[in-house]
Amino acid sequence: MAGLGIFSYLRGLSRTTKIVLVLALVVILACIIGVSVGVTKHKKSSNRIATFDDNYNITWAPDHFSIINNGELVGIMLDKVSGAGFGSINRYLYGNITMQIKLVANDSAGTVTAYYLSSLIDTRDEFDFEFLGNTSGQPYILQTNVYVNGVGGREQRIFLWFDPTADFHTYSVLWNQHQVIFNVDDVPIRVFRNNTALGVPYAYDQGVGIYSSIWNGEQWATRGGLEKINWTYAPFTASYQGFGIDACVFTGTPDSCLTGKNWWDQDKYQTLTSDQLGKVSWVKQNYMIYNYCTDSARYTPPLPECGSNP
Ligand SMILES: *[C@@H]1O[C@H](CO)[C@@H](O)[C@H](O)[C@H]1NC(C)=O
Ligand SMILES: *[C@@H]1O[C@H](CO)[C@@H](O)[C@H](O)[C@H]1NC(C)=O
Ligand SMILES: *[C@@H]1O[C@H](CO)[C@@H](O)[C@H](O)[C@H]1NC(C)=O
Ligand SMILES: *[C@@H]1O[C@H](CO)[C@@H](O)[C@H](O)[C@H]1NC(C)=O
Ligand SMILES: *[C@@H]1O[C@H](CO)[C@@H](O)[C@H](O)[C@H]1NC(C)=O
Ligand SMILES: *[C@@H]1O[C@H](CO)[C@@H](O)[C@H](O)[C@H]1NC(C)=O
Repeated sequence: MAGLGIFSYLRGLSRTTKIVLVLALVVILACIIGVSVGVTKHKKSSNRIATFDDNYNITWAPDHFSIINNGELVGIMLDKVSGAGFGSINRYLYGNITMQIKLVANDSAGTVTAYYLSSLIDTRDEFDFEFLGNTSGQPYILQTNVYVNGVGGREQRIFLWFDPTADFHTYSVLWNQHQVIFNVDDVPIRVFRNNTALGVPYAYDQGVGIYSSIWNGEQWATRGGLEKINWTYAPFTASYQGFGIDACVFTGTPDSCLTGKNWWDQDKYQTLTSDQLGKVSWVKQNYMIYNYCTDSARYTPPLPECGSNP
């Protein structure tokens, strides 16, 4: 039989030749295993869950991170020594930019967890979500803001209709040439339309990075700065998952993202549906606690976009 033939043949070889043969076999096996692992990894990359490293870099305090499940879940921490932050590797222009966040539980007074898209230059375009912590049992405030060409001053503040520390919720921006929708789960909480027709600049040519950080904001965040951080509860941890990014990668000039041919450019994303309009007004009526559009001490008359945005 062939097998036995090989063994008797092997028995006849010198010791050195045997060692060489065994080593060769090990190398060949290693190659086969290596290739198949590589192939599996490649195959899976199309539908596996995106991890932190796929799209993000740590930008502040690596020692204040906890990276769990190979980066499917990430925690960032604030303590007396430092906060922490991360940012996207690429910049983007238009798309559906989303993140699942679970905020600091229990006493989070004085902490600020920010999630924002920004071009980070003086004349920046920026869309902000800022979560202002609170004492145990008291509600977070979600403050949003929009900057175009470096001009912001468009704060809105809402309470949330759920406890943002109990579970992950999706905070996202759907941004195309027609509107920027701030969504919390599937509820639009804010819309900034392309109102260039009214003379309002629109964010359309600056690629933005996606950033998040946790930091000490006790001078202003909670009850206007009355509640300071209680360090007994440190470290304060905000958790993240959902690191996939469905947006147009900005390559230095806007053209390749301005084709109008991406899914978010379709007609149905150019204006709000009646269901979305209903939800925006539900948020405004029930959860809004501040709106720059109704702050007449600050803006008289209100800024021009205020009559157009829902
Ligand atoms: C992200 O990290 C990679 C690898 O460490 C580095 O090459 C790259 O410059 C970083 N990018 C940004 C935007 O910081
Ligand atoms: C944007 O992405 C989120 C999270 O994946 C998803 O729930 C939402 O439906 C997307 N928006 C649109 C308009 O498809
Ligand atoms: C929050 O407080 C509850 C009850 O006191 C405790 O069980 C839980 O571990 C705390 N959570 C965190 C994140 O500290
Ligand atoms: C904004 O809308 C105007 C029409 O009102 C359009 O001409 C312009 O291209 C839009 N801006 C962008 C960035 O697409
Ligand atoms: C914290 O709770 C107090 C009391 O309920 C409330 O007035 C305040 O708006 C809440 N949020 C913040 C961030 O201050
Ligand atoms: C901080 O929290 C601890 C534990 O609940 C409490 O004993 C202490 O009084 C708090 N400190 C302040 C300044 O509120």
